[in-house]
Amino acid sequence: MSDLRTIIEQLVRQTLQEMAPSSSDIKPMKAVSQTINSSHNYGKRLPLVAANWKMNQLSGSAKAFMREIQLKDRKNIQTLICAPHILLPVLAGEKKETDILLGAQNFYPEPSGAFTGEHSLDMLIDVGVQSVIIGHSERRNLFGETDELLAKKLAYAVDKKFLPIFCIGENLKERNDGSTFRVLQNQILTGFAGLKNPLPDPAMIVVAYEPIWAIGTGLTATAEQAQDAIAFVREKLADRFSWAYANSIRILYGGSANDKNAATLAAKPDIDGFLVGNASLNATTFASMIEQVAAVKRKVFAS
Ligand code: 13P
Repeated sequence: MSDLRTIIEQLVRQTLQEMAPSSSDIKPMKAVSQTINSSHNYGKRLPLVAANWKMNQLSGSAKAFMREIQLKDRKNIQTLICAPHILLPVLAGEKKETDILLGAQNFYPEPSGAFTGEHSLDMLIDVGVQSVIIGHSERRNLFGETDELLAKKLAYAVDKKFLPIFCIGENLKERNDGSTFRVLQNQILTGFAGLKNPLPDPAMIVVAYEPIWAIGTGLTATAEQAQDAIAFVREKLADRFSWAYANSIRILYGGSANDKNAATLAAKPDIDGFLVGNASLNATTFASMIEQVAAVKRKVFAS
């Protein structure tokens, strides 16, 4: 288990270290673990672009995707592919580049036992998976996952040294009746309630703000709406932990993010990357988003 954590931490640090000195327009910077004692270190977080394939792709298209994405430029950024469980060993078999992380879309927070249809984190580790999505609105709404279960899953995944992508977001009614911030606050506070001291490295926790009204609808949140919501979430994390800690947690935007709007959204200081649905099914489109986010965030790092 410590091996898995070491590998992911090394990847985060290695990439952060590569970002600074190798490029003349980027000021030298410290690794994530060294930034957590200073406050408001915007731009010191390693950008992340994550694919959420949901219930899409077959083994042939998954292999082709992995082959194509490995040929693309992925410097100064972390790339994650969250695939259906059955495709994870297929992707792992095709993966040659260690900077690409594999993620699952679900797991059950018990070591083993009579849980028909479920997968444990040890099973995921066994096939080369390092990350897991928790609390996606489709799991909350279609499969009835409660705040309590999600808190248990988050604490469990953190304990097993996985990189959790913890999803939150309001629906259209909540956005329209002005309760967005209340909903986000509640989801964050209940979701993180199970984290115990010693707290995990904040670079090993990711939150994804995914307004439900923007998921799969083609209605992207404006960059301002996404920035406001994500800054609010960071503030709540700071209230719960500390500014230094909250400033090292990566927060992604998700909801009709694509290669046309990625650069505008990623230019906002609190948006650390994307959790991408539809636009992640095509390797060329997904690779374009990765390149654009890396380029925009290089400027943020340099400023
Ligand atoms: P879309 O990018 O298809 O809107 O999906 C977003 C999402 O739910 C990612 O988890």
